[in-house]
Amino acid sequence: MKFFLDTANIAEIEEAVSWGVVSGVTTNPTLYAREGGKLAEFHDHIKRICEIVDGPVSAETVTLKRDEIYAEGVELAALHPNVVVKVPTMPEGLAATKMLFDEGIKVNMTLCFTVPQALLAARSGAAYISPFIGRFDDISEDGIEQLASVVTAVNNYDFGHDVEIIAASVRHPAHVLQAALLGADIATVPMGVLEKCIKHPLTDRGLESFLADWEKVKNS
Ligand code: G3P
Repeated sequence: MKFFLDTANIAEIEEAVSWGVVSGVTTNPTLYAREGGKLAEFHDHIKRICEIVDGPVSAETVTLKRDEIYAEGVELAALHPNVVVKVPTMPEGLAATKMLFDEGIKVNMTLCFTVPQALLAARSGAAYISPFIGRFDDISEDGIEQLASVVTAVNNYDFGHDVEIIAASVRHPAHVLQAALLGADIATVPMGVLEKCIKHPLTDRGLESFLADWEKVKNS
């Protein structure tokens, strides 16, 4: 399973990329707004992210009609070869995704929650499908169970093009563990979750004792 970083924060992306484990970045309007992002600077911000990470960078469309989504997608895709156009799961989004697919532009279909949505996303030409885990959990549903169904259903078929499933709305390392066991292609994680994924108290305790014992060796 590949790790994407789910953020629009440049410092976080630089830090995570420096670890050598990040294969891409996903952003959304909320994440950009959280960084105090300005409309006029959005395209430059996406280009900056593309300069930092050598992999797909999802930039989301914010219109609702197929022609507008398509036009936005073409504009976003022109920013950098690694830009993937993020399109919401809805009828106009499917139509726009098909139009973008026909132009060779990759789409990440976002806000996907169910198997029928995921199958339609794949059928429309989406290169990536993003089932949300945490937001399902938020409404007392089982996000991992839904992700499992999406992985199984999508992998049952050949859509005639590559489709990768991105486990999204990941809230903690247990989501990462379960997404990996289910065979999700990618987990897109906030920086806080990535940091938690590498931490373990036994690792800390073990390192502490190794270093303490090495002090004894040095002083021998
Ligand atoms: O980027 C889409 C998704 O990962 C958002 O997650 O935590 O806002 O539900 P969250």
